[in-house]
Amino acid sequence: MANLTIRKLDDVLKSELRQRAAANGRSMEDEVRVILRDACHKRLGFAEPASAGLSVPAPPAADEPVDGPRAQPQAGTVRVTLIVGGGIAAYKAMDLIRRLKERGADVRVVLTKAAQQFVTPLTASALSHQRCYTDLFDPSSEFDAGHIRLARDCDLIVVAPATADLMAKIAGGHADDLATAILLATNRQILLAPAMNPLMWNNAATRRNVAQLKQDGVAMVGPNAGEMAERGEAGVGRMAEPTEIAVAAEALWRPQPPKPLLGKRVLITAGPTHEPIDPVRYIANRSSGKQGYAIAAAAAAAGAEVALISGPVELRAPAGVDCIRVESAREMLAAVQSALPADVAIFAAAVADWRVAAEGMQKLKKGAGGPPPLQLTENPDILATISKLTEGRPPLVIGFAAETENLIDNATAKLARKGCDWIVANDVSPATGVMGGDRNTVHLLMRHDAATDLESWPLMTKDEVATALVARIAQAMAVHA
Ligand code: C5P
Repeated sequence: MANLTIRKLDDVLKSELRQRAAANGRSMEDEVRVILRDACHKRLGFAEPASAGLSVPAPPAADEPVDGPRAQPQAGTVRVTLIVGGGIAAYKAMDLIRRLKERGADVRVVLTKAAQQFVTPLTASALSHQRCYTDLFDPSSEFDAGHIRLARDCDLIVVAPATADLMAKIAGGHADDLATAILLATNRQILLAPAMNPLMWNNAATRRNVAQLKQDGVAMVGPNAGEMAERGEAGVGRMAEPTEIAVAAEALWRPQPPKPLLGKRVLITAGPTHEPIDPVRYIANRSSGKQGYAIAAAAAAAGAEVALISGPVELRAPAGVDCIRVESAREMLAAVQSALPADVAIFAAAVADWRVAAEGMQKLKKGAGGPPPLQLTENPDILATISKLTEGRPPLVIGFAAETENLIDNATAKLARKGCDWIVANDVSPATGVMGGDRNTVHLLMRHDAATDLESWPLMTKDEVATALVARIAQAMAVHA
């Protein structure tokens, strides 16, 4: 099939085309495609394309003819310009293309001259399904100011690997090749994944450049510590792994959820307690800790600094949460006291009410005298202790009431008896499947002055209950701020 070279069009036509393309926000090649397609539909009676909207094809690969096969970016897709610097980690940037694409990004790759010593434009275009860009003075893309398009026609620019030289050039505002010209001409967020020898990373010049780039609002991921490509060398300088870079990139293009509890400290108890009978036996209950852990995760997601004081459970601590593991009620009380002060304290743990008064120092033996008499004594009530503090009481103290009958009456009585501000009441009778299950139906009792407000929430997952409770807390704190 014949190729069409825009460069060879006469000057008047070229100028017309350039203006029309600029007005429509398209490249000149794309404009030609649209003109040809429209002409076919009108004059030759071709069928209209199936999609209603205009779908502009991606630019063709370097030596792909204008009418060759090409990828179609999806509407609403995030567009990433990936600049690959010249370091041994460039080969990992090829995997990064995949990691970005699987997160829904449309990736256009720019290779510096040095990067082409490690990877080829063919690899980059095959993986990105797009043309790969290499030259500032490339007639086929520069004809319509390609570097400006690459700089602006995207949502994010990722530089991986960002070599010491490339970082120095960005910090100094150089623009002597396509990569640096794009980075200077952009008004989009830049994410750098530095990769270099540890001595280069620690060099005073690089330290200055890193500080300057951060001050200029450039985001960075890595470098990580580890072995270098150079034999026998290790230290900080390895490029972050492609998945890490893709996660950091996604965090920049995805709108971040609001953080209404930023700057607040939240303390949460969760799970059962184990009360020892002797060194091998204990009294326990069926609490899974799921609801308390879900609240801890939701509070951390809302920006709070979270201390989770957990009894023995099978759950992993949520990300960003300081988890203190304890066994007995007395240990839990001590951990809560040392985790104070807090702005909010939520007592979701199923603390054992009693413990064995005289814990056996050795394993109790079966004997002729029959079973040993287990004398029980009361455990400290952690919720009541903290609610009744005269000094350092958290401004909002929330207890849980797990009941099997007369839910609201028992919860109301508990609110008064314990001296807390709110009670989250739930029915834990076996038929509900709440204990150990993933769902919960809760009622929120909120005491203010002499009155108590009651909110009954529908059946939700424990995660949803946690999110709703954290939102309710944030709302209450905003009112009292
Ligand atoms: O077990 P009870 O129904 O009294 O628990 C109500 C609330 O009190 C829960 O929030 C629980 O975490 C808390 N509690 C406590 N220390 C105890 C008993 C219960 O903090 N010893």
